[in-house]
Amino acid sequence: MARHRFHGDPARFDVVADFVAEHYGNRVKYIADVAGGQGMLARILSKHYNYECEVIDPRGWVLKGVTSRPQEYLASMATYYDLIVGLHCDEALHEVAASALVRPVVLVPCCNFWSAEKLGTKELLAAIENYYLEKKMKVTRVTLPFHGPKNIALVSEPPGECIDRTPPPASPT
Ligand SMILES: C[S@@+](CC[C@H](N)C(=O)[O-])C[C@H]1O[C@@H](n2cnc3c(N)ncnc32)[C@H](O)[C@@H]1O
Repeated sequence: MARHRFHGDPARFDVVADFVAEHYGNRVKYIADVAGGQGMLARILSKHYNYECEVIDPRGWVLKGVTSRPQEYLASMATYYDLIVGLHCDEALHEVAASALVRPVVLVPCCNFWSAEKLGTKELLAAIENYYLEKKMKVTRVTLPFHGPKNIALVSEPPGECIDRTPPPASPT
């Protein structure tokens, strides 16, 4: 099997996929891997856990067999999915956080694409958490077992339960 190179701790994909399976189980089916890059997380969620997972990333290059939408993610797309995952989601950070108003979200921030102000890891997490709390969303910090410090997930539920299981429209790839 071909080897693929990833920046950061490559264990994060398995760890996040395990967390999703344990935390959500069959409560969710359609998952968006926002800013998923090459799609390693989507691949594990689909192949090991039988979720219907697709990458949404303008980069537009994914591993063989991974479904993808080569475009920028918008929060308005969130209702096509049962769960939104933003693992180190860079420029999509605001749109992923805004998605938490309507869908469960697992957000693992990495670089500060939140504000023009310089924010370290702790300040970035606190800023996003404040946004959730201002919007009356429930949010929990979960430290995931891969190499830190960018291994803290903000796991949120929208105010009120609203999973409607609407399938996403047909994928372009
Ligand atoms: C740091 S990489 C993380 C990739 C992958 N999630 C991982 O953990 O390896 C950030 C990704 O965000 C993507 N990206 C940038 N702007 C985006 C946007 N507006 N919507 C979706 N993805 C975006 C980039 O193309 C890049 O693949």
